[in-house]
Amino acid sequence: MTNAAPPAAGRIHEFTTQSGADTIAVGRKLAGLLVPPQLLILRGDLGTGKTTLVKGIAQALDAAEADEVTSPTFTLVHEYDGARDGKPVKLFHLDVYRLEGERQLETLGLDELLTPDALVLVEWGEKFKSIRKKATGEIAISSAGGDARKITVTLKE
Ligand SMILES: Nc1ncnc2c1ncn2[C@@H]1O[C@H](COP(=O)(O)OP(=O)(O)OP(=O)(O)O)[C@@H](O)[C@H]1O
Ligand SMILES: [Mg+2]
Repeated sequence: MTNAAPPAAGRIHEFTTQSGADTIAVGRKLAGLLVPPQLLILRGDLGTGKTTLVKGIAQALDAAEADEVTSPTFTLVHEYDGARDGKPVKLFHLDVYRLEGERQLETLGLDELLTPDALVLVEWGEKFKSIRKKATGEIAISSAGGDARKITVTLKE
């Protein structure tokens, strides 16, 4: 894992990873930056490592072991109980790839999930205007050749 650039003005953090394990390690590091409540879009092509990154975030929050975090492809939402600085954190991991239209999205009740202690991570959230509007930031993962990935975290505040 290399930290490609020091945290820039505003709240942009960039990382480059060379393996899945490396991306999990970045996830662990990111957990420290994510103060609840947050609703973050996880953006990136199929198989770039969005779910892999969540494994690290869940681990750092003592919410789940890496191998317990699996893709919420069909269940849509996975919920884990964790803690950050001794305070409880509810980690919600969503994948809205298969949802079509705002009507289907409404059945998820995203607004109810975003309580003051919540960290809501939504794979493919950029598909929906309502999610783009509510998002407090974005984590974008892109391929950088072979197993290399560039991870860019943008937090609004
Ligand atoms: N640098 C890397 N970072 C993350 N994953 C990597 C990396 N190199 C290889 N991989 C592998 O790529 C795969 C990423 O799968 P993952 O399920 O995390 O992707 P995803 O972005 O969530 O895909 P989907 O859109 O289908 O949900 C894993 O098998 C992982 O081991
Ligand atoms: Mg995934």
